[in-house]
Amino acid sequence: MKGALYFLLTLLTAASTLGQPTSLDANFTSPQGVGIYNPSLSFTPTGTWSLMSAAGSTLYVSGMRGVHPSNDSLVPIGEPRIRQAFQNMADLVSYAGGDLTSCLRLVVYVSDMYRWRPVVNNVTREFWPDPESYCPRTIVEVQRLNDDDICEVEGTFWVGQQET
Ligand SMILES: *[C@@H]1O[C@H](CO)[C@@H](O)[C@H](O)[C@H]1NC(C)=O
Ligand SMILES: *[C@@H]1O[C@H](CO)[C@@H](O)[C@H](O)[C@H]1NC(C)=O
Ligand SMILES: *[C@@H]1O[C@H](CO)[C@@H](O)[C@H](O)[C@H]1NC(C)=O
Repeated sequence: MKGALYFLLTLLTAASTLGQPTSLDANFTSPQGVGIYNPSLSFTPTGTWSLMSAAGSTLYVSGMRGVHPSNDSLVPIGEPRIRQAFQNMADLVSYAGGDLTSCLRLVVYVSDMYRWRPVVNNVTREFWPDPESYCPRTIVEVQRLNDDDICEVEGTFWVGQQET
């Protein structure tokens, strides 16, 4: 009897945290428990999109560009701007209680592969100092990004308990 009660309580606890894997408050939660997040500490989305979503213990961060979170203006072009794009993503993951090394996948879009891919690689080394921890990544050259920008990043992260 006690065992059954404990089991029920565990189930209830698990259910109540579904869709809220993070310490952040969701701006919106769908009927299926997907959370949508636009933390005020980050920059303001430029259109009809949000910065981050969470389904269970998986975080999805998209549209990361080199924008100052303090005033939504673009950081000077080149390495500083690309670093800021990664920093904006890192900050969101951190607000959600995650860490960059629990990255599942990255997609990087650049406007010029020859010019910006080496810079993306350098910036990646700063954020993932341990080469063994590099995240699976796709990098593609695109014809144009919003604001004629040079680089945009999206990332998927695990923020749940350690897999056993
Ligand atoms: C999302 O929620 C945060 C606080 O939880 C709030 O500061 C922010 O303005 C909200 N964003 C939108 C787009 O509603
Ligand atoms: C935006 O904020 C950053 C960081 O504080 C600052 O360096 C930059 O000059 C600001 N840009 C504008 C247009 O105010
Ligand atoms: C990348 O970093 C290395 C080592 O600091 C530097 O020599 C190189 O110029 C950098 N490459 C780019 C494209 O910034």
